[in-house]
Amino acid sequence: MRPMLRQRPPRTLVLVGLMGAGKTSIGRRLAARLGLPFVDADQEIERAAGCSIPEFFERYGEPAFREGERRVIARLLDQPLQVLSTGGGAFMDADTRALVRQRAHSIWLRAELDLLVQRTARRGNRPLLKDSDPRETLRKLMELRHPYYAQADITVDSGDRPAEDTVDRVVESLQAYLDNEADTQIPETRSQPAAVQS
Ligand code: S3P
Repeated sequence: MRPMLRQRPPRTLVLVGLMGAGKTSIGRRLAARLGLPFVDADQEIERAAGCSIPEFFERYGEPAFREGERRVIARLLDQPLQVLSTGGGAFMDADTRALVRQRAHSIWLRAELDLLVQRTARRGNRPLLKDSDPRETLRKLMELRHPYYAQADITVDSGDRPAEDTVDRVVESLQAYLDNEADTQIPETRSQPAAVQS
């Protein structure tokens, strides 16, 4: 039996991590396991822009992409409970991080460099890896971004194993996180404090 959550997560689940970490693939499966809708922020950006991400980078440049990404993610975080996978750069934005912290639970899918290189080589749809040595670029991005991803609520290693096994780990870590959160919540005041006599 695959692990399941004992309760509905109280907030949207946001997947963060580098290109090739498996955010979309794991996110889609996680959503199916939990019976939640799945949305991919990059696909939403493409839909809103009416072009692919490589085309967007070419036509408008990276800063415009980041601006659009921030707006689209803010809109998606306004929607009801869902699983949301984000592009690798999204969590670098301070506003996005703050919004995710406020409205969602974040899950960092962490993967080794070799695996990221291998997975991103399968498709040529990443503008940041187009004109450079992909391994070197990914290595630098790891250095730069890992401290930010590490701010996520949960970290799960996304190794070279069947995707459903990684989903198992996400579900188990999420359950532990939610249990811990419930334990540390300040208990509600059950009775009214006595009126202060003046
Ligand atoms: C990017 C990652 C991509 C996409 C864009 C920029 C990044 O998404 O948003 O190419 O800055 O790491 P994936 O992480 O889904 O590949």
